[in-house]
Amino acid sequence: MDNQVIQTLKQRVNIVDVVRRYVALRPASGRHMGLCPFHQEKTASFSVNEAEGFYYCFGCQAGGDVLDFYMRINGLEFKDALQQLAEEAGIELKEFRPDPEYDERQKLKKLCLDMHAQAQEYYRRNLDQVTGDAARSYLRKRGTSPEMVAAFGLGASPDDWHGLMNHLVARGFTPEQGVLAGLFSKNEKGKIYDRFRGRLIFPIQNISGQVIAFGGRIITEGEPKYLNSSDTPIYKKGEHLYGLYQARQAMTRSKRAILTEGYMDVLSLAQFGYGDSCGVLGTALTQDQIKRLAGFCSRIDLIFDGDGAGRKAALRSAEMILHQGVACRVLHMPEGEDVDSLLHKQGREGLEVFFEKAADGLDYCLETIQKSFAPREIVAWATGFLGQLSDNALRAYYLPRLADGLNLSEADLRRQGASFAAQAGRQEVRKIAQQPVRSRKPMGMDDISDKKFIAFGILYPDYIPHLAKKGLHNFLSTQWAKAFWQKMFLQNFEQIFQSLNDEEKAFWQTTLDDPHMFFGEDLAEHWESMCAWIDKQHREMARKDLMQRLDTAAKAGDAVEVKNVQMAISALIAPSREEE
Ligand code: CTP
Ligand code: MN
Repeated sequence: MDNQVIQTLKQRVNIVDVVRRYVALRPASGRHMGLCPFHQEKTASFSVNEAEGFYYCFGCQAGGDVLDFYMRINGLEFKDALQQLAEEAGIELKEFRPDPEYDERQKLKKLCLDMHAQAQEYYRRNLDQVTGDAARSYLRKRGTSPEMVAAFGLGASPDDWHGLMNHLVARGFTPEQGVLAGLFSKNEKGKIYDRFRGRLIFPIQNISGQVIAFGGRIITEGEPKYLNSSDTPIYKKGEHLYGLYQARQAMTRSKRAILTEGYMDVLSLAQFGYGDSCGVLGTALTQDQIKRLAGFCSRIDLIFDGDGAGRKAALRSAEMILHQGVACRVLHMPEGEDVDSLLHKQGREGLEVFFEKAADGLDYCLETIQKSFAPREIVAWATGFLGQLSDNALRAYYLPRLADGLNLSEADLRRQGASFAAQAGRQEVRKIAQQPVRSRKPMGMDDISDKKFIAFGILYPDYIPHLAKKGLHNFLSTQWAKAFWQKMFLQNFEQIFQSLNDEEKAFWQTTLDDPHMFFGEDLAEHWESMCAWIDKQHREMARKDLMQRLDTAAKAGDAVEVKNVQMAISALIAPSREEE
């Protein structure tokens, strides 16, 4: 992978267009301003510089280029953000992913997306026609408003084995292609037919709004009640959330996501004014889904049915969310009720009662564990919980809370947790050290901070995504380090190591031979100092931007703007003075 891909991408993708998908922006003296999606605020301090291609928030100092933004808001890692944005911009990432089948896969994806777009249109139109009568009256019976039908693009599949097939074949697609796209099924005799028949259709969209799958609810009788698309080249179960596309802006505003189980639940929540709602789509909540949500919100409110299955799912889901450093709350619906039925019977007031008495996610876990686990299991659960946390800062935060909530000794828990983490770390390092090295030539490095960050990434791979989130790549000064840094996002250690050139391998090896490892609180301190350094660079970037703006304003004789910018500059410098 080379820097050229990133440069091309930045030229082709307009940062304002991308940010607009998530944030309402208004133009203001050569830039765009809006409410920061990365922290809670009432006055706009989030600015996007279209010409220079970067964003900066004067409130929380978040800043970076279009890739940073996309990565952060979608909770993606650098590699995935690059891939998705590049795909949008039509840039091939061949060098990045040396893969001969890449072109083929891209073509197949495009075909599937095209077919889904056509199918969506077909189902949608069908809902307004005679063949959609039953679906329309069903929606009426369930109290779904026309606005929601439109906003979620609902449709109906006619009770016909070849309705969609005839439609798609007339548009030049083959039945076999429809099978590949998951729209048609094929029986043992090789007969191909529509997968969705006589159902109310819920299009499932990705975060760019493209339809990538469908869910269908039976309208009259029949099994199963819900039928979903199977996995296809464009859809993998557990990667997406129903309604996230519609909810994304509301979520960045409220910093909260309501997560529920059903299609109809999401529709009703939205209809009753809870625009920040989405659904898990018929599977248990996955890490991918949480990561996705984490980019939009800082808290997830889980709504579960009141039965035993709901309680079990709630514990597991809350645990997983907390592991990622996202807060959560748990709401249980009363027996025999779901959020959809509750809203239609009792309206917002009915549901607000449950929001008010919602349990904090951690408290919920601790209570459930204490109630239903044996003492030995409790200790195991706590160390397991700590061990799975993604970083040490989180561990430090949870440790006393777990000890307190579970009546365990903090020192014991710390000891067990530490040995767990250290063990995992050492195993990874040992694995890497066993890889062959061809050359041990010393590096021609000239920048100490670059070297420090790369070495840190080698020794603490867990932290790589966090450094990426903080926008480290903007502040690496040597080409060497930039190239190295990008390789660190390949799938796994083996892949990373194979992608390194001899020089880089030598650096990797030297780092492992003489590791400046930190543990426990030292590590936390070291991490903080690195974060502080990056934050300082962000401020420096913003300062340069402001100076330039000051210059422009001064030349234009715009006294008001000069004053504003001067104020912004002094606000920017103040915290860094305290620091030193
Ligand atoms: N689900 C599914 N397949 C099924 C049943 C359920 O994929 N056979 C998923 C659907 O996403 C569904 C959710 O699980 O929306 C919750 O299922 P359930 O509680 O059974 O249905 P409701 O959403 O309450 O559906 P409805 O109100 O339409 O009866
Ligand atoms: Mn229901």
